[in-house]
Amino acid sequence: MTEEQEVIAVDGPAGSGKSTVSKELAKRLDWDYIDTGAMYRCLCLKALQSSISVEDEDSLVDLLNDTTMRMSFKDDGLKVFMDGEDVSKDIRRNRVNQQVSKVAALPGVREKLVEKQQALGEEGKVIMDGRDIGTVVFPQARYKFYLDATLDIRAQRRYNELQQASEDVSFNSVVEEIEERDATDRGRASGPLKPAEDACIIDTSDFTIEEVVEKIMEKIEAKQDA
Ligand code: DC
Repeated sequence: MTEEQEVIAVDGPAGSGKSTVSKELAKRLDWDYIDTGAMYRCLCLKALQSSISVEDEDSLVDLLNDTTMRMSFKDDGLKVFMDGEDVSKDIRRNRVNQQVSKVAALPGVREKLVEKQQALGEEGKVIMDGRDIGTVVFPQARYKFYLDATLDIRAQRRYNELQQASEDVSFNSVVEEIEERDATDRGRASGPLKPAEDACIIDTSDFTIEEVVEKIMEKIEAKQDA
């Protein structure tokens, strides 16, 4: 077994609270934060802009080779840049939500993005959220968490986010979209969504963000003291 890496892996389905919790942890610990879902979202956005099918693996891998992605996490939040342009808002739009899991199901795309993610986390002191961080990207991460919540609560959280972004969607369509995305993310052969065997699983349905962060901090501190 290789040495543990100074990485906190936070995995879980859409709307489980991963990114909000991860950002808060990053602030408290003064570690960097990498949102790996944003990388799949950038590629999906670029494919939609370039009229490339989100299922055309070869073209998407070529597109990825021709794309730069950068993230900056500061006090004013996470900013995502694709080819030098700030796409932080565009990658959260509903049309990307609807298509991104198809892009993320392609093994050639995953292979390339996993490599990028491993390079980004190499230096340590990083919190990375996604679906396969504890299982594939950093199986040697020192800390692994898997957040979950009921479908209804996850859909409500996503619906609220979309409302705030002035997207015109119905609650039922968000439920359907999340169900569909979960099924694709769980069912794919390459890096499926599942908890790592050694992950700490937290159901966030009945907890506030603050409470989840506290629970995670307790686990981290307990492990640091052990
Ligand atoms: O976390 P998110 O909703 O931004 O993720 C967008 C999509 O990318 C979602 O369908 C799952 C997928 N994804 C993935 O397959 N692996 C990751 N490490 C992160 C996200």
